[in-house]
Amino acid sequence: MSGAPIGLDMTIVDEAVRRRAVAHLAARGIALPTLGELADPTRLPEDLGGRIAATDPDAPEALNLFRVHWYNDGRGGRSEIPAHLVLTEELTGVAAPIVIALGERFPMIGAHKVLAAYACLVPRLVTGRFDPQTQRAVWPSTGNYCRGGVAISRILGCRGVAVLPEGMSAERFRWLEDWVEESADVVRTPGSESNVKEIYDACAQLGRDPSNVILNQFSEFANHLAHYAVTGRALERVFDAVARTRPGLRAAAFVSATGSAGTIGAGDYLKERLGSSTAAVEALECPTMLYNGFGEHSIQGIGDKHLPLIHNITNNDHVVAVSDRSTDSLNVLFNSECGRRWLERERGLSAELTASLASLGLSSSCNVLACIKLARHLDLGRGDALLTVATDGAAMYGSELEKTLARDFGGTFDDGAAAAVWAEHLEEVDDDHLLDLGPRERERVFNLGYFTWVEQQGVELGDFEARRGQGFWRALHGSMGALDEKIEAFNAETGTR
Ligand SMILES: Cc1ncc(COP(=O)(O)O)c(C=O)c1O
Repeated sequence: MSGAPIGLDMTIVDEAVRRRAVAHLAARGIALPTLGELADPTRLPEDLGGRIAATDPDAPEALNLFRVHWYNDGRGGRSEIPAHLVLTEELTGVAAPIVIALGERFPMIGAHKVLAAYACLVPRLVTGRFDPQTQRAVWPSTGNYCRGGVAISRILGCRGVAVLPEGMSAERFRWLEDWVEESADVVRTPGSESNVKEIYDACAQLGRDPSNVILNQFSEFANHLAHYAVTGRALERVFDAVARTRPGLRAAAFVSATGSAGTIGAGDYLKERLGSSTAAVEALECPTMLYNGFGEHSIQGIGDKHLPLIHNITNNDHVVAVSDRSTDSLNVLFNSECGRRWLERERGLSAELTASLASLGLSSSCNVLACIKLARHLDLGRGDALLTVATDGAAMYGSELEKTLARDFGGTFDDGAAAAVWAEHLEEVDDDHLLDLGPRERERVFNLGYFTWVEQQGVELGDFEARRGQGFWRALHGSMGALDEKIEAFNAETGTR
């Protein structure tokens, strides 16, 4: 980690490596989208539309790079507004609508982490920092980022290595087995999503071999930048669409459970554009930001016990903790036959609404619960929207559902269990374990990062400190143009666009 550039350095470091990357992509006819195009896919050339539509969204096809955005319509085409759900009082018990952008329509992995993976690799590719002919891309992850990385690697025709905790869901490992070149390209580290240090240790080991390039999402600033520009704009479009049907609607807050803290970068964009506050969410069983705490939890995808280098915490306004008991229980209520029938019969929810709950994976219902807590805490009303994302859907967690069923419900989920889950994990949700971040609290949480990044990972103290002020982040946000120019120049040289 020591000596790694802070921010996004777009200088070309090795012309020879870059030339090899150009030749590699030219030979395969691979064109690269800019972040600007992924933020606003209407900027993509007209003639590309038909070719993309004819491409299988689940295949490692180069044209799927042009689907790494929020506007996929689920039928191969593009929608004007990103797919989203609006959850209201009948389910949430709070008047403020909860607006959720759905990540499951991202190509190949059914989760928006493929955007983070593309964003972390592309700056290296176009500046001579990654040689796809000779180097392996290593993707440290808690499950979805490494799937995105392996998918991007396959498309680019280079080796991709997934590094993830052994405790992640069976569905993720099955997907990886189908997609990696060799089974040795899946590296299992000890523990669960709470064991990010063990992931770093495995990467440090792999990084000793110069043919391995570690794309550490927790410290790659392009991850933040992509979500700022791409996810931020997508959520703004969703909010505008919802506001058209609810005149006067205000964007009260953006709420995001943090793993690498890439997604929460969208909060910076939304704060600038819509004036919303930003809430960072973590698991109650491992309340690092809230209480300097540590522990184990099962909300897959949100790693902790450390504060990612790319987390602009001094621009966040709230920290909220959600228990994994709640997310596990809601997974069963929302995704079992009995649970859905109970919701329809006893709570009067439409079959359409209960079916749509399958779009919510564990961290997505964590986000919904954090929205409910915040709505109660701030006493929000009908005119206040809470914005959030569903990184992935329930399809990734069938095996986890079975585990919860066996562990917590004696193997069967009946009406009584459904009523109890509804009462405890929805109706009675209050605003405990929620902190408003004032200047002192922001500094406290920011300071936590010192132990990981300066002491453990060897980041220079000055680089670490530079991130405390907003000037650093504004400059980072301003660097997208430079990245896109480099991508365009690269495409021109490959002759693919
Ligand atoms: C399912 C899931 N939810 C939430 C997150 C957290 O997103 P981020 O890493 O952008 O903070 C991840 C990250 O991998 C994830 O896979």
